[in-house]
Amino acid sequence: MACWSKLIVANFVFKTIIGTSPSFESSPNQIEEIIDRIDDFMEMMNYFCLIPRWIRYHLPWFKTRTAKYLNSKKQLDVILDEIIEQRIKAINNWAPDKALDADLLTLLLLVRDSIEKFPQEILRPFDRHEIQHFLIEIFLAGIDSTSSTICSIIYFVCKNPHVKKLLVEEIEKIFGPNLEQPVTTQSLNKLVYCEAVIKETNRSIPFVPITSRYSESPDELGGFHWPAGTNIGINIHGIHMNTLHWTDPHSFKPERFISADGNELVPETKNTFLMFGRGVRACMGRKLSMIIVKTFMVLIFTKYEVELLNEGQDLKIKYNGTNKCEEFFIHLKPRIR
Ligand code: HEM
Repeated sequence: MACWSKLIVANFVFKTIIGTSPSFESSPNQIEEIIDRIDDFMEMMNYFCLIPRWIRYHLPWFKTRTAKYLNSKKQLDVILDEIIEQRIKAINNWAPDKALDADLLTLLLLVRDSIEKFPQEILRPFDRHEIQHFLIEIFLAGIDSTSSTICSIIYFVCKNPHVKKLLVEEIEKIFGPNLEQPVTTQSLNKLVYCEAVIKETNRSIPFVPITSRYSESPDELGGFHWPAGTNIGINIHGIHMNTLHWTDPHSFKPERFISADGNELVPETKNTFLMFGRGVRACMGRKLSMIIVKTFMVLIFTKYEVELLNEGQDLKIKYNGTNKCEEFFIHLKPRIR
């Protein structure tokens, strides 16, 4: 059974990326099934990178494990293939008086690049296999990251009652005590303190603590010459904790991201805060994840008194390339006003 926050995030992500798939309605457990298969795929990537081929395919215990992973990947392919197939049918049967699902899957199936200078090979539409793997990459990158961020936020907010007070006050000011105002992108953009809490959480525990870049040409960095083809690790957690950029970096202080009058977020100093990385390979889902996390915060903190299950509870983070929170217990009591 996936962690509660993962199920919530997966619902958001699936809805945005593949819309309301008929197969989800006929089989509600399919979301959990996809989450489990994606988790297996993530484990499989590490396993295939670390365990040499002759061990994976020939030693008894490893052979069984390899078969389990490959079988799980096959099942994932079948589920995604079915979803793509259903959407192709819907597009083929589309009548101009009916709306098509406006999600990323439809876009990927319909997209044609019209820039003439590109060679024909690039202008061709994506094939099914490419779309399938595109969906896998998005689910891999989008679900754990956002759900672990949500767990870490709740942890820090509950551990810092003054932060919780300011956060709830801001949410109530914008949405009303009983959520009278609709949650829209415009209203979410007004959540300055809430965004500072999200950023401070990531500064303290970045979901991606280290990223890397591959140099295409020789370069000079830190006073050293690096040949082309060097893999350069970027220590995001180290940057977030560096006293050159951050005062008292081990304290949880969302206000460090806000202007002195408390009305706006301060512009980031380049390369000192890398929640979503930077440059052309920066996170593709940064806008979507902010919408998911803020919406979640508005809903949970207006509807419930949120507490950790135990006073002394710690945040259990497992590092496996990313800082993943796999289990997190909270106590929710409906707010009665
Ligand atoms: C709070 C949630 C999230 C955090 C903290 C996060 C963070 C990151 C970071 C640090 C990177 C590496 C960037 C770099 O090396 O410069 C990344 C890459 C990526 N993220 Fe996210 N992410 C989040 C949510 C999402 C979501 C919701 C999606 C998709 C729906 C997504 C899709 C991706 C993809 C596809 C990449 C690879 C981009 C590339 O290599 O070109 N992420 N993310």
